[in-house]
Amino acid sequence: MSDKKASNQMWGGRFASGPAAIMEAINASIGFDKKLYQQDIRGSVAHSRMLAEQGIISADDQKKIENGLNSILADIDAGKFEFSAKLEDIHMNVEAHLAELIGPAAGRLHTARSRNDQVAVDFRLWVKEETQRIAAALKELIAAFLDRAEEHAATVMPGFTHLQTAQPVTFGHHCMAYVEMFARDLSRARDAVERMDECPLGAAALAGTGFPIDRHMTAKALGFREPTRNSLDSVSDRDFALEFLSLAAICATHLSRLAEEIVIWSTPQFGFVRLSDSYSTGSSIMPQKKNPDAAELVRAKTGRINGHLIGLLTVMKGLPLAYSKDMQEDKEAVFDAAETLDLMLAAMTGMVRDMTINTAAMKKAAGSGYATATDLADWLVRALGLPFREAHHVTGRAVALAEERKAPLDKLTLEDFRSIHAGITDDVYSVLTVQNSVKSRTSFGGTAPSEVRKQIRHWRKRLSKT
Ligand code: ARG
Repeated sequence: MSDKKASNQMWGGRFASGPAAIMEAINASIGFDKKLYQQDIRGSVAHSRMLAEQGIISADDQKKIENGLNSILADIDAGKFEFSAKLEDIHMNVEAHLAELIGPAAGRLHTARSRNDQVAVDFRLWVKEETQRIAAALKELIAAFLDRAEEHAATVMPGFTHLQTAQPVTFGHHCMAYVEMFARDLSRARDAVERMDECPLGAAALAGTGFPIDRHMTAKALGFREPTRNSLDSVSDRDFALEFLSLAAICATHLSRLAEEIVIWSTPQFGFVRLSDSYSTGSSIMPQKKNPDAAELVRAKTGRINGHLIGLLTVMKGLPLAYSKDMQEDKEAVFDAAETLDLMLAAMTGMVRDMTINTAAMKKAAGSGYATATDLADWLVRALGLPFREAHHVTGRAVALAEERKAPLDKLTLEDFRSIHAGITDDVYSVLTVQNSVKSRTSFGGTAPSEVRKQIRHWRKRLSKT
């Protein structure tokens, strides 16, 4: 009762006391930024060593600080550290505990530093490392696709536009389309790492510091290429996080399109692929069913990642320089996006490696829907010298006749063809099979098995170099 009274009548019910408890609940970030503990401690060790090297603190104090930090690291690793919301965030939790461990020397660690540059360096380190993890996972996925592409370089399937049968392609070619997409995602990840590879530590609150610090030394110790060049920007910038979320959203979108294709391909109506039991579930009521749950969830989780990108863009859009507490909202978005994308990549790599390809169903579907109509038109151009537009017209009539007969194009008789255009010879049949259709498409980047194999070699070589 007295608690109720102390807290706000309207909304204070959930809080133990008045405004202080509400403030703590809205202000504290320790619930999620404890994820940064390793980066925070690494940053502090590097900072303390630099302070000692520059004669700003004594070597003796530095030793105490470093030993204390290492023992905190070991405690957190072992799950023996008690985080406190009263201490707001990871930076103050670590520092307060350090003071308990080593006494007054702990108070010297924060010389020439602020939580503003501290959080900027911690978070950058985390995002950089995560982006490198994503790059490694993308390489695994690409490797899975290259193997499947090699295996199925000559497996014919229908290619679609508007999800209507368009022209025959090979499954290897389709796999290589995803190699192109994920290789671009990989290059986006590498570019992003390049750009975020600057160390903001030493920007202090916003203006730099009068202490004779060596920012090059801390940048190097923390594995950054160089220090950032503007102290205001250093504590204000979150585009490294936005870039991470952008590349995550684009990659998730690629994964989602693939997931959608797997959902379609694994229906009994298509029957192009069979998912392994590890990546599907049965139905509790319909025994015949095998559901592509993992693919569906990859498709769905994309929404979360896209949402996080829009969320953080919106947080940042109105902020004046330099630091504002709004920026504390960057972390949950990035952490959740990262965890989600890691899982999506792992699930998709497993699915691609494990799925069984039904080559007979693919081939059968490739031959239906007059998929070789363009080949007929091209033949009329090549063999009879017709302008393409006229060839298109003649082919249209052949398709109409085949439809009337309820037969595929290659089941029309030579008389049938001649009734449409007198110049047609039985050489035409050679282009009407799906195998010959794909084999003929040898243009650079085309679907011919020879060209697909060439592209596989290209990517294997290129990826082995980086
Ligand atoms: N928890 C804060 C964050 O994540 C750390 C920086 C706090 N800085 C400040 N001036 N209050 O952004």
